Amino acid sequence: MKIIGADIGTMNIVTASMMEDSKMQFKTMRNMFLPISTDTLETNELTDTQLDYVVQKDEDGDDKVYILGEDAFRFSQIFGSDIRRPMSKGVISAGEIDAIDVLTVMLEKLVGKVEVGKSIYSIPAQAVDLRTPPVLYHEKVFNKIFKALGYDSKGINEALSIIYSNCRNSNFTGIAISFGAGLTNVCCAYKGQPTITFAVSRGGDWIDENVASSTGTVLSRVTSVKERELDLINPVEGKKKEKRVREAITFYYEDLIEYVLNVFEEQFNKNADGLSIDEEMPIVVSGGTSKPHNFVELFKKVFESKGDFPYDISEIRHATDPLNAVGKGCLIYGLWENSKS
Ligand SMILES: Nc1ncnc2c1ncn2[C@@H]1O[C@H](COP(=O)(O)OP(=O)(O)OP(=O)(O)O)[C@@H](O)[C@H]1O
Ligand SMILES: [Mg+2]
Repeated sequence: MKIIGADIGTMNIVTASMMEDSKMQFKTMRNMFLPISTDTLETNELTDTQLDYVVQKDEDGDDKVYILGEDAFRFSQIFGSDIRRPMSKGVISAGEIDAIDVLTVMLEKLVGKVEVGKSIYSIPAQAVDLRTPPVLYHEKVFNKIFKALGYDSKGINEALSIIYSNCRNSNFTGIAISFGAGLTNVCCAYKGQPTITFAVSRGGDWIDENVASSTGTVLSRVTSVKERELDLINPVEGKKKEKRVREAITFYYEDLIEYVLNVFEEQFNKNADGLSIDEEMPIVVSGGTSKPHNFVELFKKVFESKGDFPYDISEIRHATDPLNAVGKGCLIYGLWENSKS
């Protein structure tokens, strides 16, 4: 039976599988697409290219080409049309009628169709500060998508999966925080069992949007500065305007970390009964938004300036391979479950 792990993120889908030599293999696709009418681009022009695309019928029964993943981004600039995203804030997008079809094709490209398979995929926690479509609906949709590809499937919390891939040394006790695009997901686990899980609707997209409006900068420019030229502790020198953008990004990063720690405390206080854990535990941070230089240092600085925290923390560290940590944890869980049965 083929077992796979899948990190279904607002911006990136990452799949993990085991190769014959017992090495894990990861594949990534940007979770975005671009519909192009066949008047603009003939289907036979596409067949010889390396592009990821699919041809589907639109509402009027006409053929429409959907370019998938990273290529969608490049083509959107050539054709001047807007990129579309099947998901928003960690869950399947309510306003995007093509989302399910597109996601099915993307996952088929990543993990293939099988006779008998098992897929463990990540699901977010319901966000505490935003009304999004229920995660339960999102899960039902993905179970159906995986079924169509031959996989029995099960969703597990995104941050819990980071505990599985990064907290073996502490016996799967720890706090994992996944700083993504649409959401930040948090899980506190004791010996592999989640005790607190929640999500907040702030992540990389939130930083980009706020910096863009605070500094009057185009959104895509902010994203590009953030992803390429940022050090959160030692400011990078440069032109005045860019310096201002980087300062603003750092400010929103600090604010995001502080907000996540405050909500953690609120969630802890809400459920105070039975949540006391006497052991020291690590905090592991992960996700695309944790990638800039000195993110962990900034996290430590904000954590220390807050003072009291509900748990004793042994260390604050970065997940190994932050972009693959969720997919890896899902695969580890799938392999465990399979070895028990
Ligand atoms: N080097 C980098 N520096 C800063 N931010 C980055 C970097 N690389 C990626 N990002 C940001 O990380 C985010 C994507 O992260 P990730 O792939 O973990 O999210 P996701 O899992 O798709 O989303 P979510 O978990 O919210 O559903 C985007 O906001 C992107 O701009
Ligand atoms: Mg994610």
